[in-house]
Amino acid sequence: MAKRKRRRRQLAPPSDPPIRPGVVGLGRQVPAAIDRPPYIPGGEPGPPSSPLVRTTDELSRMRKAGAAAAEVLLRAGEAIGVGVTTDQIDAVVHEETVKRGGYPSPLGYRGFPKSTCTSVNEVICHGIPDSRPLADGDLVNVDVTVYLDGVHGDTNCTFLVGEPLEHDVVLVKETRRAMYAGIGAVRSGSRVHDIGRAIEAHATTFQLGVVEEFIGHGIGTEFHAGLQIPHYYEPRATTELLPGMTFTVEPMLTLGSPRMHIWDDDWTAVTVDGRRTAQFEHTLVVTENGSELLTLTAGGECAADRYESAQPVSTSSV
Ligand code: MF3
Ligand code: CO
Ligand code: CO
Repeated sequence: MAKRKRRRRQLAPPSDPPIRPGVVGLGRQVPAAIDRPPYIPGGEPGPPSSPLVRTTDELSRMRKAGAAAAEVLLRAGEAIGVGVTTDQIDAVVHEETVKRGGYPSPLGYRGFPKSTCTSVNEVICHGIPDSRPLADGDLVNVDVTVYLDGVHGDTNCTFLVGEPLEHDVVLVKETRRAMYAGIGAVRSGSRVHDIGRAIEAHATTFQLGVVEEFIGHGIGTEFHAGLQIPHYYEPRATTELLPGMTFTVEPMLTLGSPRMHIWDDDWTAVTVDGRRTAQFEHTLVVTENGSELLTLTAGGECAADRYESAQPVSTSSV
């Protein structure tokens, strides 16, 4: 059969101007009394070396670090609004972290210059807080990691700024649900690939892409510990989940192609097609019958659940 000549379909253009690098201010100071993670000051954590299953004592410390991270993320969410710069969000995350006696894990990690990651619109993850003010209709993911009492708690949420576009509301809502679908696959005896299978199935139902280059990770005394948790179905990820294993589930879903590209700053990951992306993250521990979320406040709250209906965040300012 003859090949029909087809005009190549143009990718849908991004709906708004691309995100450009802004001015990155100096890294913030952490009071000397606060304990630093082992990769400070050099920045290099070295290869993961901690056991996959945590001790009871480590778990109780991780509940505290996780609760602190959840509280800080809620405070960051409250600060978001039209005109607020991502550097102002960094200030909130930094102050709220040190106020709780924690160290903001991103600061100085492999040379990262700021205390949190702020990823706007087509930025998939690892956006560096800078001078750019949030605009009406933006999406911003804030990723908070707190190092407290020798362990890390890592959690993130994508917030809608001002009046969102309908397809962005769907993207955010279904990315959140994809994270919970992945978490729902966690129990003693299931396998790592069950998590990604559940996330990918959810994304596919809503015709959303799944970014493959960044994955969930073991966490505890190390920021990024041994376990690797793909957010897509990876048949080779056969590691059996056991009670006491701790890791993150943090899917990044896209409206268009999940192909990514990293800026010259060596951090900012963006979609190649310029279309928008969202992410949610929790740190959890495997239990006999399921899992326990470690990144909830003492009252059981988290930013992902507060903004569950994917309604716009009120336009307060810092
Ligand atoms: N918090 C991110 C994660 O979920 C890691 C950020 S590393 C940084 O794994 F250096 F960019 F902060
Ligand atoms: Co993480
Ligand atoms: Co994170």
